[in-house]
Amino acid sequence: MTERETNPDARLVIVSNRGSVTFSRNDSGEREHSRGAGGLVTALNALSRQRSEAVWIASAQSDEDVRVAKETSETGESHEVEGLRILLVEHDADAYDLMYNHLANPLLWLVQHGLYDLPYSPALGHETRRAWEEGYLPINENFAEAVAHLLESSSEGGEPIVLVHDYQLYMVPHFLRERLGKSAFVSLFVHIPWPEPEGWRILPGYIREGILKSLLEADIVAFHTKGYARSFIRTAHETLGAEVDEEEGVVKYEGREVWVRPYPISIDPNEFEELARSEEVLEQEETVKSLPGKLLLRVDRMDLSKNIIRGFHAYDRMLELHPEMKGEVTFLARLQPSRGDIPEYAKYAGVVEKTVQEVNQRHASESWEPIVLSMEDDFMLSVAAYKNYDVLLVNAVRDGMNLIAKEAVVANEKNGVLILSESAGAHEELGEHALTVNPFDIDEQADALYDALIMPDDERARRAKSLQETIRSNTIEEWAEAQLEDIAAYREWGD
Ligand code: G6P
Repeated sequence: MTERETNPDARLVIVSNRGSVTFSRNDSGEREHSRGAGGLVTALNALSRQRSEAVWIASAQSDEDVRVAKETSETGESHEVEGLRILLVEHDADAYDLMYNHLANPLLWLVQHGLYDLPYSPALGHETRRAWEEGYLPINENFAEAVAHLLESSSEGGEPIVLVHDYQLYMVPHFLRERLGKSAFVSLFVHIPWPEPEGWRILPGYIREGILKSLLEADIVAFHTKGYARSFIRTAHETLGAEVDEEEGVVKYEGREVWVRPYPISIDPNEFEELARSEEVLEQEETVKSLPGKLLLRVDRMDLSKNIIRGFHAYDRMLELHPEMKGEVTFLARLQPSRGDIPEYAKYAGVVEKTVQEVNQRHASESWEPIVLSMEDDFMLSVAAYKNYDVLLVNAVRDGMNLIAKEAVVANEKNGVLILSESAGAHEELGEHALTVNPFDIDEQADALYDALIMPDDERARRAKSLQETIRSNTIEEWAEAQLEDIAAYREWGD
């Protein structure tokens, strides 16, 4: 079999650090897989299911992933999992640690979400440069290498489309151009907020400019909201002196024209309806339904951007102001462990747990635990909770989109009320039918919690219906279509 025959359709390539699944071995030594973390995976799962010819390239994370990566690199074929074609890339472990735990997650994530306590941090220096040079750059180059290798093994089917995703992979466009020149269409989708130019200026010059120059080697740079796209255009202008047209969403740099576009990401509602009916979810529902009173829910990764601690303080305040609500509501906080090797995250998780203990001690009774903290990684239990919440709290400090708000609303069967941060990307679409909160204002959030818990049934029903309709009018299908249409338009324009 020639290499070309092994990859007949490898023309649409999706690249992200986190893959849809991660592999492990069970006690009997059989290979198993579980779902990858975060909203990006939810969306890309749906996208690659629609485009069955797509190959999804992601990092090997677990030991078993590395074994899978080795098998595929020997055969040259992608791995089929639940109908998806996946190709895992093996990285040097030290380089990966520098990229993930020292550069992308602490630095870029915190800068782009505006989470630094600027009088004290970040404190940048030679360690930052090392994480960039020995971590971020080599990992990005390794990804570009994997894409180029895949494309070289199949030259049929016209110009390939490479859809690169998120802040872990900003340098991939640059390395791809080094290998492929203009022979591939490249887009990079940024799934997290883009700060104003002065926020971007926190980064050292070599990162600040290096990333922007690489992004401007892509054909399209995409975001979830118009606001982030605008901030990016301004940053390109102020940092590199690029010629820009904010209205048209165009940046011109070194003879190239880059389109900067918002595509609000979404979900596949059918997927969540099916999940909601599945045996596994039905079993888990018993646990959720056994909690006393109304169900107040939050589902998040344990992340600084999610504003988990202020959420508990707001609940505490609500119980203080309305003691009659004690025993009438349980706050189920499903917090998926995330990025625990990064000191800022480990510290945050400690404060979250301590806050839960304090609030519980203050208000608990013999028969009622005010907050039930659940930190295991069980997606089916989350879907069971989605179906049954009365109130969903999404109070992020900043969030690229927040797909929990969309998934949960679609699965919910109780006309649940959505409390939504004005600083979550989802607010551009859903804010009108949610209770909007300022993520920093604890009293406002306490009031919103109370209002949501006592909201009359007809208002709940009206809001829930509008939220559902809004989400169904822009599903992952429209998200993918809008991008593919723009890619076609860009190519036509470039011819
Ligand atoms: C966010 C990011 C994704 C990331 C996910 C989970 O949604 O935008 O790129 O994959 O969080 O984070 P993790 O570090 O576990 O991949």
